[in-house]
Amino acid sequence: MRDLFSKFDALISEREALLATGVRDPYAIVMDKVLSPTEAIIDGKPTILLGTYNYMGMTFDRDVVAAGKKALDEFGSGTTGSRVLNGTYQGHRECEEALKEFYGTAHAIVFSTGYQANLGMISTLAGKGDYIILDADSHASIYDGCWLGNAEIIRFRHNSVQDLDKRLGRLPPDAGKLVVLEGVYSMMGDIAPLAEMVSVAKKHGAMILVDEAHGMGFFGEHGRGVFEEAGVSDDVDFVVGTFSKSVGTVGGFCVSNHPKFEVLRLVCRPYVFTASLPPSVVATAAESIRKLMHADAKRAHLWKNSRRLHQGLRDMGYKLGTESAQSAIIAIILTDMAQAVALWQGLLEAGLYVNTARPPATPAGMFLLRCSLCAEHSDEQVEQILGIFAAVGRAVGVIGSNS
Ligand SMILES: Cc1ncc(COP(=O)(O)O)c(C=O)c1O
Repeated sequence: MRDLFSKFDALISEREALLATGVRDPYAIVMDKVLSPTEAIIDGKPTILLGTYNYMGMTFDRDVVAAGKKALDEFGSGTTGSRVLNGTYQGHRECEEALKEFYGTAHAIVFSTGYQANLGMISTLAGKGDYIILDADSHASIYDGCWLGNAEIIRFRHNSVQDLDKRLGRLPPDAGKLVVLEGVYSMMGDIAPLAEMVSVAKKHGAMILVDEAHGMGFFGEHGRGVFEEAGVSDDVDFVVGTFSKSVGTVGGFCVSNHPKFEVLRLVCRPYVFTASLPPSVVATAAESIRKLMHADAKRAHLWKNSRRLHQGLRDMGYKLGTESAQSAIIAIILTDMAQAVALWQGLLEAGLYVNTARPPATPAGMFLLRCSLCAEHSDEQVEQILGIFAAVGRAVGVIGSNS
């Protein structure tokens, strides 16, 4: 019998070799207690969180937590059913209404995760004989959505308007085409040139879906995402998003003005064949979304934090994923996994948690530490974070001793 696990042998050995050097496993951290959106207890020690997607710091918002508790008391712990059977409660509808208001769209559909939103939307929209044209650095959920369906898949070079134009130009003019873009690319924290891309996609008669997982809450006048800031709201056909980042809970969604949108509730398998979100979750999401509509001060503070951290790390000599802060994600590029883990562990021991990322999740096989800021990080915390990066970076030799 061939052991089906043998394909993972190389990964298992690489991991064992790394852990044998005495470093901590960066993928096995446990938060013993979470004190606030920016602080937790890890290994008994207070630690600043700089590796969450809690961009707007909504997880401990008093009104959001109260809405969840109320729904738990009134509707119980779960729905035990699909949205199309017994799993649509008043709270799911309210959550969809909150999304419609937030985005100013005619339709909104809530999925159980953002991952499922991409799986469902992409695999259902693009069928046999259609084409999906996607950025090579797209999130795994976008790729998986392509593989779940029957469409032809065409990739273009990351953020290249020219390559998108060229590849669209080779397709049959009358074929169905879905261009899939992300507002913010979460590994490097760079944003897409959406104005140019949307115009190219329209020129070739394609429909456009933009994933705003990392842009919702703080890009654009109403915090809708990079597409709003780029001024292309009227030309984007579908916006996909998640509740697991700025909204501060779990769940996914798609909003649109397409007149036939509601038929998706009957044909979209990742919507139909799974249980709906618990009432407490949709209640927290709806309250959070409503509050995000009036979060200008938080947005401004998040941008201030992101720019300060980017500038500070750059001045110290860290190699960063972008020239300036394009989003709330700041990626530090390292030479290999050993260097990445050494810096990561040093930071953790000094009381700072960041994320590590490695191939295959990263573009071009890069090893990264990813910092993501929160609107609730205080100015003092950001200065403290910079102090830790200076001391640990020097100690592990990632930056020079004069930095
Ligand atoms: C670009 C992008 N799309 C979709 C998702 C999936 O979101 P969720 O956590 O809700 O499944 C993520 C999450 O990592 C993401 O980064």
